[in-house]
Amino acid sequence: MEISTDDGSKGMKGTAVDLATSMIDKKRYDLMLACGPEPMLHLLLSLCFERGIDCQFSIERFMKCGIGLCGSCAVDGKRVCSDGPVFSKAELMAMAEFGRVKRNEAGARISV
Ligand code: FES
Repeated sequence: MEISTDDGSKGMKGTAVDLATSMIDKKRYDLMLACGPEPMLHLLLSLCFERGIDCQFSIERFMKCGIGLCGSCAVDGKRVCSDGPVFSKAELMAMAEFGRVKRNEAGARISV
């Protein structure tokens, strides 16, 4: 297991994206699985795209019904509660809202 911390108090000093980049530079990986803050996932998706690595990410959205009815968790037509929460690289790449826009608890679109 590899660890990174922002202040370097444990493991590599840097972000999780820095650590993933460092690991990919040293070894070939076929698949990246990730969950966490969407800005980080968006950067990891770019990294996977650049390096030709397949990926599956679990994304988070504010959920009200949890069964695909209300649309509060929608990302470009996909409902995170019923179509996800894990999405493939192709699905993530096709999402214009991923890493950019989400809905808050009132349903308003806000920046990620
Ligand atoms: S939470 Fe209602 S559609 Fe996903």
